[in-house]
Amino acid sequence: MTTTITLTGAGGQIGYALLFRIAAGDLLGPDEKVRLRLLEIPQGLGAAEGAALELQDGAFGLLEHVEVTDDPAVGFDGADLALLVGARPRGPGMERGDLLAANAGIFGPQGAAIAAHAAEGVRVTVVGNPANTNALIAAASADGVPAERFSALTRLDENRARAQLAQTLAVPVDTIRRLPIWGNHSATQFPDVSYATVGGQPVDAALEAIVGDVPTWLAETFIPRVAKRGAEIIQVRGSSSVASAANATIEHVRDWVRGTEDWTSAGVVSHGEYGVPEGLISSFPVRSVDGGWQIVEGLEVSDWARARIDASVAELVEEREAVRSLGLL
Ligand code: NAD
Ligand code: LMR
Repeated sequence: MTTTITLTGAGGQIGYALLFRIAAGDLLGPDEKVRLRLLEIPQGLGAAEGAALELQDGAFGLLEHVEVTDDPAVGFDGADLALLVGARPRGPGMERGDLLAANAGIFGPQGAAIAAHAAEGVRVTVVGNPANTNALIAAASADGVPAERFSALTRLDENRARAQLAQTLAVPVDTIRRLPIWGNHSATQFPDVSYATVGGQPVDAALEAIVGDVPTWLAETFIPRVAKRGAEIIQVRGSSSVASAANATIEHVRDWVRGTEDWTSAGVVSHGEYGVPEGLISSFPVRSVDGGWQIVEGLEVSDWARARIDASVAELVEEREAVRSLGLL
């Protein structure tokens, strides 16, 4: 079989980190051929064309075809998977929400082009920031495509949270499970250790033995470290995360296509679950079943967690209002 994958921003940093992993089979496995459509704006075409030449030189057996274009109708033609990465990254001192004015205008036309040209079962992953609200705009502009086919990347936040917890507990990162991100891919996000397990056991006792007062450690150390990790990366390396973002994108899409054994996190459309207003694209604990994200329901949410979820969701509501006032929704 062959899957058609559209990557926007293919001439940018994350695009460059993604393309070669996709061509090598990291996304869909060693048996699935891929057809790549690289969508850029005119200024980015040279970089995308260069990447296409290098893809050819990689002699990847799974890569059937590469097309580079600045025309969304061509870029999204027949797309089974669309990775919407193309957007401006933030710089030092900015919050991701500050990018709304610069980037939100990209996602309406792309949503419309997806509706008009993509394959019937297209699944869209938004990486460009602010990812949740950009996904909301794209979904709202894609007439006839169910909002459930749009998701925003919060897997990078989950990976950061699992890595920080693993480091604190001095355990291998892959022994940490069930550490979902709630809300917005922003500084208000809530990485929630309430359900987390290490080696299949609840983390509470092990964590308390190491950090002492767990609520204080969560509020003062863990949550801010995870939520502000993007800003830390920008400060240290001078530009925003690239390889870790590409890695999380690969994991997110792979899980969406192939299914999950356990929970993960993704920004998906709310139908009112956990009191999140209907229609918002919020991060939840999710499973991937039969090619679709399912929100993990019935979890007990403490008052402390509730307040954090509410704060992040309030920011999503504000972003939706801001986009409405820009006339983009
Ligand atoms: P970059 O500047 O290196 O690349 C962005 C590319 O997008 C450029 O080549 C640009 O020409 C292209 N582009 C701009 N508008 C476009 C459009 N309308 N159609 C197609 N392409 C377009 O940036 P980057 O480092 O690759 O980051 C891309 C985005 O991903 C940024 O918004 C960044 O903040 C975001 N990001 C999100 C996460 C996440 O976890 N959700 C993680 C890292 C980065
Ligand atoms: C990240 O989380 O690293 C990205 O969203 C980039 C950023 O602006 O922080």
